[in-house]
Amino acid sequence: MSTFISSWKSPSNIALVKYWGKKPTGIQLPANASISFTLSNCTTTTKLTYTEQETLAIKVLLDGDEEPSFVHKIEQFITRIAPIFPFVKTGRYLIETSNSFPHSSGIASSASGMSALALCICDIAVEKGELTENNFNRTASELARLGSGSASRSVFGPMGEWGKHNDYAGSSDDYAIGYDDIHPVFKDYCDTILLVHKGQKTVSSTVGHGLLDNNPYAEARFAQAGKNMTKMKAILKSGDLDAFIELVESEALTLHSLMMSSNPYFILMKPETLQVIEAIWKKRAEDGVKWSFTLDAGANVHFLYPQADKDSAARFIESELKQYCENGAYIYDEVGMGAERV
Ligand code: PMV
Repeated sequence: MSTFISSWKSPSNIALVKYWGKKPTGIQLPANASISFTLSNCTTTTKLTYTEQETLAIKVLLDGDEEPSFVHKIEQFITRIAPIFPFVKTGRYLIETSNSFPHSSGIASSASGMSALALCICDIAVEKGELTENNFNRTASELARLGSGSASRSVFGPMGEWGKHNDYAGSSDDYAIGYDDIHPVFKDYCDTILLVHKGQKTVSSTVGHGLLDNNPYAEARFAQAGKNMTKMKAILKSGDLDAFIELVESEALTLHSLMMSSNPYFILMKPETLQVIEAIWKKRAEDGVKWSFTLDAGANVHFLYPQADKDSAARFIESELKQYCENGAYIYDEVGMGAERV
């Protein structure tokens, strides 16, 4: 009965072309392809101590304190990945995890958390001779996807692409691929996450994805996302920031319009979300800055700008945007290179 130990630090990511809606068959397969910036500062660090035994036992420590509420999610994850690595079905798991961002920040830890755990399991699979280094990242991404779709993209930097799309060579619905055919401006692009509302979301993304099944706009959306992936590829290569702004903001608002056109309908934005967006638009109209926003499935705003504008954007955040953040809180982040073994 051997013990295996692995530790990984994995980042969050922010989608530019969004995944919203799953294929009707298969487990956690995306209705359309998506692409994201991998972040650097918002990370989850996870240490897995796995001991072989004949039954399954899971203990999770979050920042050193036992967190029984995570166990069910991990059991479900283990059931989903067992067809790939049958050994996972039994064993004693001690999962020690911590996030670099506050728990109550409203930032989802599923992408960073699930990818970190998937990477730890892949390390153990390598040690057990069930996985080769050649297939390591791809398999880790596939496992991460089975935990949380967007987690598949966190394995890679500076960008992750997930979902079969003819313009992205090697792309697959099963796992994400790293994407770096990008203009230098995007390699260290900044994303300051304005924490407009730190509370729990009223509708989870699992429920939100499911509501696309009878959303009358779903098919049109999936077709649009495919076209936007084609446009995004050219934009990322050329560094055309005007085209970038238009596409990224349209994607963010489309995501939220799908929520508003679901049955039952729902809104995850808060009044401050719109106030931040308006302030960014006003600044752009007045000063011609190439600053934009995107949103994930929540009220927080991801404020996007080139690294060269870091100082002026910081002043703008302090003077104009901070007032709309809960307790004035925001998290500075930028594009990063993906998960790291620790
Ligand atoms: O990975 P999930 O199931 O939490 O879904 C993520 C959905 C969005 O964050 C809204 C978009 C995306 O592509 O990350």
